[in-house]
Amino acid sequence: MAGKTNYFLTTPIYYVNDKPHIGHAYTTILADVLARFHRTVGDDVFFLTGLDEHGLKVQQAADQRGISPQKHCDEMAPRFTDLWNKLHIKYDDFIRTTEKRHEQVVQGILNSVHKNGDIYFDEYAGLYCVGCERFYTEKELIEGKCPQHNKPLETITEKNYFFKMSKYQQKLIDYIKNHPEFIQPKHRKNEILGFLRQPLDDLCISRPKSRLNWGIELPFDKDYVTYVWFDALINYVTAPGYSTDDDKFDKWWPAIHLIGKDILMTHAVYWPTMLFSAGIPQPKTIFAHGWWLSGESKMSKSIGNVVNPLDLIDKYGVDPLRYYLMREMVLGQDASFTSESFIKRYNSDLANDFGNLFSRVSTLIEKNFDGIIPESGNSTVEELNIQKSAKAVMKHVNSLIEKMKINEAIEEILQFVRGINRYMEQQAPWKLVKTDKSAAATVLYTAAESLRISALLLQPVMPNRTKIILDTLDVDNCNLKWGLLKAGNSIKKHQPMFPRIKFDIEEDSQKVQYNKSDIQDNIVTYSDFKKVELKTALVIEAEKVDGADRLLKLKIEVGDEKRQIVARIAEHYQAEDLIGKMIVTVANLEPTTIREIESNGMLLAAKKGKKLSLIIIDSEKVASGAKIF
Ligand code: MSP
Repeated sequence: MAGKTNYFLTTPIYYVNDKPHIGHAYTTILADVLARFHRTVGDDVFFLTGLDEHGLKVQQAADQRGISPQKHCDEMAPRFTDLWNKLHIKYDDFIRTTEKRHEQVVQGILNSVHKNGDIYFDEYAGLYCVGCERFYTEKELIEGKCPQHNKPLETITEKNYFFKMSKYQQKLIDYIKNHPEFIQPKHRKNEILGFLRQPLDDLCISRPKSRLNWGIELPFDKDYVTYVWFDALINYVTAPGYSTDDDKFDKWWPAIHLIGKDILMTHAVYWPTMLFSAGIPQPKTIFAHGWWLSGESKMSKSIGNVVNPLDLIDKYGVDPLRYYLMREMVLGQDASFTSESFIKRYNSDLANDFGNLFSRVSTLIEKNFDGIIPESGNSTVEELNIQKSAKAVMKHVNSLIEKMKINEAIEEILQFVRGINRYMEQQAPWKLVKTDKSAAATVLYTAAESLRISALLLQPVMPNRTKIILDTLDVDNCNLKWGLLKAGNSIKKHQPMFPRIKFDIEEDSQKVQYNKSDIQDNIVTYSDFKKVELKTALVIEAEKVDGADRLLKLKIEVGDEKRQIVARIAEHYQAEDLIGKMIVTVANLEPTTIREIESNGMLLAAKKGKKLSLIIIDSEKVASGAKIF
């Protein structure tokens, strides 16, 4: 990255009503990593994120809670800001669309677009669902009915304001063709150009207050509020000071917008045409990344497979999560999130490679040089090669980051780390120290300096743990030049940095089974369902399984029959509390052996996140052995 530049980077502003999940966390971590990389090379960085707070859903949620929409937003916003703090996201501005500064800019832009003659008032006839309070297009209906309420829709005629998006269609096509860096990656650009082959409709940009009043009032008609997307997109110019602070705006605009592919259309069609009309230059780049899938399926609240970043932070730590998300996704393509791939990636890259290099270097220096980084003697061809590859890795990493190839940049660094581990094995300084202490010192200095450079390169991805490594080496500057590690510095005591994660086979086999159940294929016929015999069962004995923290062994009575089952519920229930409870069991499940104990059946429980509850039947009403249907 040559020369110092102004680098303005944005994430989408997230719906305040949503519970933050791994998808939101991904875009925000990606922006944070890019921002940190650019800061380390001396660029001036402005990293913007925030919340989208207007619209019907927010109004409805607030109504349901019996509070004002603003209070609702204020109470919901910390779910995002707290998570960003936890994930060490260092943004420069956090915008909320309900802020006064934003309202003013939205109204200013609406006024100028209106004055341009690009807004007109017209009657609109559409299919409206009273239950949802929204219009549906024919395509969205299921058998002609509302997909949410399964009820016929009313044809409503409503007067609204429209933005002449169609007027800018050709200008947009030309702009996209003339600016190859505008929509990225290339296949997304082609998707938009394909879409623009059809005539573009104008965009309805208002909602009558009689139907929705949680929005920014139109400056030219107080009976209407602004359509939420027209409002939200403008955040990108509000924050850098459009129309309020010209110097600031000139410094930062145009932006690089990072978005998910789900919101490409609004960013690559609505937004540029709005900017054309308002006379504001286009963003530099709109970069759409792919989706994180849960296993092989799309994450969705209704399926219940949404990955919660807080659970992962608790389980594995912030830096490993950041590392995994950045290493595993090829920008622009979808990636699959599974515990299995997380643990594999962590164990191979962080525990075996990077963590191992750190432990070896620090332990050997402690043991053989009283914890003082030794002076390097004369470099042999091996050391000179390492110095060369250190220089090459720095250069490659910079150019890969420029091209947004973060996963490849990380892989470059890890290749370098693996090379140093190999060098250590070949040179074996633990043996060398007995015969040639000065040669051992050269090897350890070279390895420690390589570790410093790797930690500095990985710092944007894992700011915390690399800081501990750099502190351990007593490093006080971020210069990547070879040879700046000071001999004579003392190595500080440290905790193991990336302890291996034990692979939990039981949990993993459950995950794999879950992921394989493709959502489209999960319909079973009634006759299939009837094959499963669900019966009530009385727990007559219960005890913990020796040596297995999570298992309970239960004796149950299913009608006249007595059985034994092993269940993974010891973290949720005390054995003695279960005795006398009427539970539900799958009575015709093939017997199996768990930890050498026979398990004859399976009990039913509900599980979400870390919480689990057994399905318990009122034993006063039905006896054991009753059929569940
Ligand atoms: N409020 C709008 C954006 C307005 S921007 C002017 C919105 N918000 S959202 O809360 O739904 O967030 C959408 C963004 O979250 C996506 O574009 C993407 O950045 C991120 N993700 C949400 N789910 C995702 C995955 N499963 N995988 C990766 N990222 C996804 O749309």
